[in-house]
Amino acid sequence: MSYESRHVAAAFLAGTTVTYLAFAAWQYLASQPDQTQTARRRRTKLGLAKSSPVSNKSPGHDDLNSPFISQSGVGVGIESTISNTPLVLIKSLSEHTGCTILGKCEFLNGAGNSPKDRVALSIINKAEAEGLLTPHSGDTIYEGTVGSTGISLATLARARGYKAHILMPSDQATEKSDLLVKLGAIVERVTPAPIVDQMHFVNRARNLAKDHTANPQKPGRGLFADQFETDANWRAHYEGTAPEIHEQTDGKIDAFVAGAGTGGTISGCAKYFKEKLGANVQVVLADPQGSGLYNKVKHGVMFHGLEREGTRRRQQVDTVVEGIGLTRSTRNFEIGSDHIDDAIKITDGQARKMARWLCEKDGIFVGSSSSVNCYAAVKTALQLGPGHTVVTILCDSGMRHLSKFWKQVGDVDGEEDMTFEDLMK
Ligand SMILES: Cc1ncc(COP(=O)(O)O)c(C=O)c1O
Repeated sequence: MSYESRHVAAAFLAGTTVTYLAFAAWQYLASQPDQTQTARRRRTKLGLAKSSPVSNKSPGHDDLNSPFISQSGVGVGIESTISNTPLVLIKSLSEHTGCTILGKCEFLNGAGNSPKDRVALSIINKAEAEGLLTPHSGDTIYEGTVGSTGISLATLARARGYKAHILMPSDQATEKSDLLVKLGAIVERVTPAPIVDQMHFVNRARNLAKDHTANPQKPGRGLFADQFETDANWRAHYEGTAPEIHEQTDGKIDAFVAGAGTGGTISGCAKYFKEKLGANVQVVLADPQGSGLYNKVKHGVMFHGLEREGTRRRQQVDTVVEGIGLTRSTRNFEIGSDHIDDAIKITDGQARKMARWLCEKDGIFVGSSSSVNCYAAVKTALQLGPGHTVVTILCDSGMRHLSKFWKQVGDVDGEEDMTFEDLMK
């Protein structure tokens, strides 16, 4: 064989070998599961770490909560830190009840650090899809909120090129309005008023949005976010929070316990769990003192004599608890109300004790609504008996409540001095 022929034959052999090896490698890789997805599922199921789903497409109307994640798994923008929160075993409560009590760590949503991140993103995505918001045009999002939704909206408004104008009752913790100011939102703290009053924080937000759109002197339009009535709220939980919990528990849930501020969380989750698990799952409302929802669930009427307007110290909901409790019906509560099996009323004193307990025993430092949820989760677990799984929501951090709720709770000393009997007394 000539030198040229040998050279050509060797080159042919080498080329064939390389092609074969490349094909074999491709076949091997194609047969392997998506490592990123598998790792994510494993982490979120074990509640060990927070990560994000793999998707690099723009969220459409049917996919309101999809964060932006590049093919390499890098999150694009603050939106990518929303959803896929860990579900953790609350050890002390599980040990004392003999049940598995799990907390969905919604305070780890990365924009406004509460479940309202999901709702705010859902509202903005829906408005953009409907052509109601145009980035960097002066369009302004108006909302009436006790704080959490405002913080999530103000953060995401920054990320998407909008302005935010937030109305909140003047009796809410100042941490929240201070934070809103830092985020560049216009903040008005208004005197608590009944919902029939045009100065009620929700009515004022709606009116201001309308006035903005009608005013040719103002750039852009006003969008009323309308968290109490919009379907974008409960859908965020129906399409996000609930399926995540279902996947993280492999569908083994005996009870789901949550409070209602707008009703979005409990309705979205209740609807999803009942559709998936039927009567096997019990949905329980955790209601703070002063709220009318307990009676609505238990007896079909919203108001209790002691909670009627004019008999209460405050005009909204007479409790130190922020974020949950209602004295009126909302679309977001009504959507799921038929799926709510029971309600448990939690006093401010019980909420304070639970906040202290969770910090003292588990190092879990949460706000007032999470404390109400956990107290009701323990009562539910005790009613069900050992061996059951109860899931609840850890809404926000105690850091949002230092000046009000945690001021009442007081400092947790170095000693672990509270007994379970003290907690449940
Ligand atoms: C602090 C806090 N508590 C409770 C809730 C539950 O409220 P909703 O009924 O509006 O879903 C939220 C909602 O995100 C919240 O941020």
